[in-house]
Amino acid sequence: MIALSLPNASTFASKVDGLFDFILWTSVVSFILIVGAKVYFLFKYRRCAVPENKTMYLEGHAPTEIGVGVVLTIWVMVIFWWSWKDYKYLRTAPRDAMQVNVLGVQWKWIVQYKNGRKLTNELVVPKGKPVKLIMTSDDVLHSFYVPAFRVKQDVLPKTYTSLWFEATEVGEFPVFCAEYCGLSHSGMIGKVRVLEPADFEAWELNMTEASAFLTKPLEEQGKELATAQGCVACHSVDGTPMVGPSWKGKFGSIEKLSDGTEITVEENYIRESIMEPNAKLVQGFAPVMMTYKGRMSEEEVNAVIAYIRSLK
Ligand code: CUA
Repeated sequence: MIALSLPNASTFASKVDGLFDFILWTSVVSFILIVGAKVYFLFKYRRCAVPENKTMYLEGHAPTEIGVGVVLTIWVMVIFWWSWKDYKYLRTAPRDAMQVNVLGVQWKWIVQYKNGRKLTNELVVPKGKPVKLIMTSDDVLHSFYVPAFRVKQDVLPKTYTSLWFEATEVGEFPVFCAEYCGLSHSGMIGKVRVLEPADFEAWELNMTEASAFLTKPLEEQGKELATAQGCVACHSVDGTPMVGPSWKGKFGSIEKLSDGTEITVEENYIRESIMEPNAKLVQGFAPVMMTYKGRMSEEEVNAVIAYIRSLK
């Protein structure tokens, strides 16, 4: 109802709207019932003009009170169950989702594709395919918001957050920054361009397009960086432990840390290990790695992570 003016451009849209409308309309009904009863009682039990005709003494009515309590409890439990079900769907990206890196920078969105293509303020995706965004910020807090998809996710510095969606409509939809991030926050606007799958493939292969395009896939950029930055002097890519743990098969694996706890190797852990190598040390290795803080940009970290992820 409220969302009439917004396109329903993702698989989330009807779910979010359905729940929203349920809450809205049940609230409208209960508002009418409560205010209606209030007005009715106001007249029914009003103090009469004739002084000796006193207002009658009122007592509670247990069945009604319990009944109201039960109905309201059922109502909020329905809302809870419904939102929990949809929230789980909204937060769990399918395994086969296409991954794209998004970087929030004062005041624009930078989009990095696996094949190395880089776009500013534009995200191009195929229709009918799940897309997962791995997002971080170069400076302050931003928030990636696509109203037509009903998705919004904070984008934080020094951390990766993710968001997924599946577009259901071809077209262009605005992306807003939904977190005040300084002077030009209101101008931090991009767009999602949804293409038919065949058109998307053609777009992906179209290397001549004018948009900034890096010739190498992200993981190859990462491989070159790993050599240039000296990572591979201590980390092998074939499984042999050297000064540091090998990168082979590391992504997604469970690592035992020096304090005995375990951690799953994912984007945030790798990022932390590059910037603060001694924060979570792998068991059996000495704290000898130096920090790469200030020596690698967020885009480069994304590339190195893509490289590590590719070493199956
Ligand atoms: Cu970025 Cu507001």
